[in-house]
Amino acid sequence: MNQKTQNAMWGGRFASGPDAIMEAINASIGFDKRLYAQDIEGSRAHAAMLASAGIISDSDAQAIREGLLTVLSEIEAGEFPFSPALEDIHMNIEARLKDIIGEPAGRLHTARSRNDQVALDFRMWVREQADAAVGGLRALIRALLAQAEAGADWVMPGFTHLQTAQPVTWGHHMMAYVEMFGRDIGRFQDARARMNEYPLGAAALAGTSFPIDREMTAHALGFDRPAANSLDAVADRDFALEFLSAATICAMHLSRFAEELVIWSSAQFRFVALSDRFSTGSSIMPQKKNPDAAELIRAKIGRILGATVGLFTVMKGLPLAYSKDMQEDKEQVFDAADNLMLALAAMEGMVSDMTANREALRLAAASGFSTATDLADWLVRELGLPFRDAHHVTGTLVALAEKRGCDLPDLDLDEMKSVHAGITDAVFDVLGVENSVASRTSYGGTAPENVRAQIARWKEKLP
Ligand code: ARG
Repeated sequence: MNQKTQNAMWGGRFASGPDAIMEAINASIGFDKRLYAQDIEGSRAHAAMLASAGIISDSDAQAIREGLLTVLSEIEAGEFPFSPALEDIHMNIEARLKDIIGEPAGRLHTARSRNDQVALDFRMWVREQADAAVGGLRALIRALLAQAEAGADWVMPGFTHLQTAQPVTWGHHMMAYVEMFGRDIGRFQDARARMNEYPLGAAALAGTSFPIDREMTAHALGFDRPAANSLDAVADRDFALEFLSAATICAMHLSRFAEELVIWSSAQFRFVALSDRFSTGSSIMPQKKNPDAAELIRAKIGRILGATVGLFTVMKGLPLAYSKDMQEDKEQVFDAADNLMLALAAMEGMVSDMTANREALRLAAASGFSTATDLADWLVRELGLPFRDAHHVTGTLVALAEKRGCDLPDLDLDEMKSVHAGITDAVFDVLGVENSVASRTSYGGTAPENVRAQIARWKEKLP
C-alpha cells in the first residue's frame, strides 16, 4: 500500500491521503522519536503478556520481541528511516517491525491503542527524568555540603532587602540552599510515586475485551499497579504537570542562588571567585571574567515556567478522554527537562569549583552595623530594658557611629554612656561578629555548632 495515498496504519476507510499541510501539523515524529526506547520496552512487555495470556502465540511474541530489538539497534545506530507519513514514533516502529518480521507485527497492537501507548511511553520518560533530577540535586547538595563544611564558621553578612542585616556563617548560607534543594528532591520523588501507575490496557479509552494481565505488564515495567480507570489513564497528563511544577520550583531556587553568585563574584563584593572552567571572557574588555553560567541558570526558569504554563493551557478545558491537543504535551516537557538537568549540572560544577573569600566575607560582615541587634539584645538581657527602648538606644548609637564615620565597636565607652549611662565594658563582647554568630544557637540558627550538626544530619540522610 502506498503511504502517500493512504495511511498504512489506519487508511482502510480513506480514499485519499492527507494534504501536505495536514501531514505537517499532524506528525509528531520530529520530536516524539525521543520516546523510542520507552516505546520498544513497553511493546516488548506487552507482547510477552499477550502470549502469556494466550492472546497471541508464543512464536509470534518471540518474533515481535526480537524484531523490536532489531528496530532498537537500527535507531541507536542512526539507521532508522523515520517517516513523517507514519505520523509518530509508535507507527514508525510498528511499520518497521512489519518490514522486518512480516505478518506477526500486526498482532502487537492487539488490546491496546496509541492513546494508552503514548500515555505509557511519556510516563516512563518523565519518570526517568524525575529520577535524573533527583540525581542532579543530590550531586548539587553534596557540593554545597563540601562548601558548608569548609566554611562552617566563616562569618559573612546576612541580608534582608539586600541590606546588611546580621552576621551569619557561610556554612549556614550554603545549608539554606541544601534545605531548598532537599525539598526539591522530595517534590520529584512525590511526583514519581504518584505517576507510577500503568496506563496500558486502557486501550483507546474504555479498556478491552481481551483477557489481558495488566498486573504482569505493570510490574514488568516497574510500575506499582495498573491505573484503575481507563478514561483517566489515557486522558490525564497531571504526571507531566507535576514534574514541570517541581522543575519550576527547583529552577526558581537555582535562579535565586545563581543571582547571589552573580552578585558575590562582582568586583564590588568579591565574596566568591568562580573558576575559569565556569566563567567566560569578554571579546573587548580583557580584564573581564563573566559569570555566564550563573546568568544562564538564573534565566532557565523562563523556559521551564513557560513549559508549565504551556502544558496547563493545553490541558485545561479538554473533555475526556484523549484529544489530539495532547500531542502538544511533549516538546515543552522535553525542553524543560533538558534545561533543568543542564542547569543542575552547571550549578553543581560552579559550586564545586568556587572559592569563597573568607577575608572579604568577614570584612563585609563587620561593616554596616551588623551587630546592632546583638547590642539591643544585650541592653535587654543585661540592663533589663524593654526591647523597644533597647532598639531606640541602639538606633541612637548607630546614628552616632554613622556621624563619626566608624562602626559600633569603634565607639568608646564614654560615647556609649552618653547615650545610656548603664552601658558597661562588657558590651564590646557582643559587638564582634564571631561572638554574634556563635550566640545564635537557637534551633535552626546560624551558630557554627548548629551548622556542623546540620551538615552531619544531611550527610547521613543523603546516600
Ligand atoms: N502522536 C500521538 C500523541 O502524541 C499519539 C496518540 C495518537 N492517538 C490518536 N488517536 N491519534 O499524542
